[in-house]
Amino acid sequence: MATVIVVGAQWGDEGKGKLVDYLTHKADLVARYQGGHNAGHTVVIQNEKYVLHLIPSGILHKDTICVIGNGVVVEPAALIDEIRGLRDRGIKVGDNLLISKNAHLIMPYHIALDNAGEKMRGKKCIGTTGRGIGPAYVDKMARTGIRVGDLLSPEILKEKISANLRNINFLLKNLYKSGGFNSRKILNEYIGYAKILKKHIADTDLIINNAVAAGKNVLLEGAQGTLLDIDHGTYPYVTSSNSIAGGACTGAGIGPTRITKVLGVVKAYTTRVGSGPLPTELFDSIGEEIRMKGGEFGATTGRPRRCGWLDTVILRHAATVNGLTGIAITKLDILDGLDKIKICTAYRYRGKTYSHFPKESDIFEKCTPVYEEMKGWKGSTLGIGEFNKLPLQAQAYIRRIEELIGVRADIISTGQKRDELILLRDQF
Ligand code: IMP
Repeated sequence: MATVIVVGAQWGDEGKGKLVDYLTHKADLVARYQGGHNAGHTVVIQNEKYVLHLIPSGILHKDTICVIGNGVVVEPAALIDEIRGLRDRGIKVGDNLLISKNAHLIMPYHIALDNAGEKMRGKKCIGTTGRGIGPAYVDKMARTGIRVGDLLSPEILKEKISANLRNINFLLKNLYKSGGFNSRKILNEYIGYAKILKKHIADTDLIINNAVAAGKNVLLEGAQGTLLDIDHGTYPYVTSSNSIAGGACTGAGIGPTRITKVLGVVKAYTTRVGSGPLPTELFDSIGEEIRMKGGEFGATTGRPRRCGWLDTVILRHAATVNGLTGIAITKLDILDGLDKIKICTAYRYRGKTYSHFPKESDIFEKCTPVYEEMKGWKGSTLGIGEFNKLPLQAQAYIRRIEELIGVRADIISTGQKRDELILLRDQF
């Protein structure tokens, strides 16, 4: 019996989808706890590729209960599309999918506000996914949000939409100089979604806690990554939720005493999509090679991801704020064939060395990485299933990462497919 959190240790896109899918073969219940359809979790099973945005990757295992927790923001049209897309491919989505009554809804005006805000920020834009995530969390914190449970009461829904539109239409028209929304149209649209989603709406905190109490294996699936966390990331270039492990407790309604392990997913190099500092970013042919070979294009927006060397300063930060008990290193095979591999061990700024993540955004933006160089490896690591079968330099790279972060590697992923990995320590 165990309750395991899987969390991204960088800026998202670390390969959490594959890891969660793999770990789900021993999990009875998998829950998403924050974010929304800004996430894109890719899983490849027998050459079939699945990209999941809102539904936990566990859905690909038919006997697993999948929960969209209270901390998630749900765009119902996107969710229904995802359900249909999965069903069309023969995946069961029925009573195995549960959505928290307390999860907040993304409304059409959140999407309009997200895009209008980005346009107004101009060069200082965050580079959001444009899915309405930030404005939906703004309403949640302002206590004007509309929750999934409200879909079950058309009267409450009507009242809340009308009340919100009074302010939002004013803002859209007067500040952003764009069109407003019609409350009746939104109401009808959302009543339609309610009919489809009704059977999935539940008290998910109770269900998760009952599963834990019954000795089941529970997996809590983080979206985005530590450096995109609203409190512990590279603010303001972050998402609007707590993507770190602590977010799993609030976003699923489970107490910290119930958590047994926190697995940090670490890509063997660093990527970032959207704006904001990335100290180890590569602007040369190696960066381009990693992008192409690693397929580093956003699973949600298709945007090219910025690529760079592994940064262990941010990883030590991730190890601390998440309380990582182990790491899963992914995409090792993308580094195959490189002559030299660099690892960032610290930053330099105005003659000072920083071995910890600096909280001052101007330092983080302007610092230069201090690198340690390792020899690359010639052979392929693709699909290797045992640690001692890896090229010796690849083994040395992993051991050095463990040393620099102070956390042991529990899993090494050596390819996109479900079974392409090395299991060093079980999570359940
Ligand atoms: P938002 O979450 O759409 O508000 O975007 C805020 C920032 O988080 C932007 O830089 C996005 O590119 C980034 N972001 C959001 N979701 C993901 C993700 O799943 N992977 C990587 N970056 C993401």
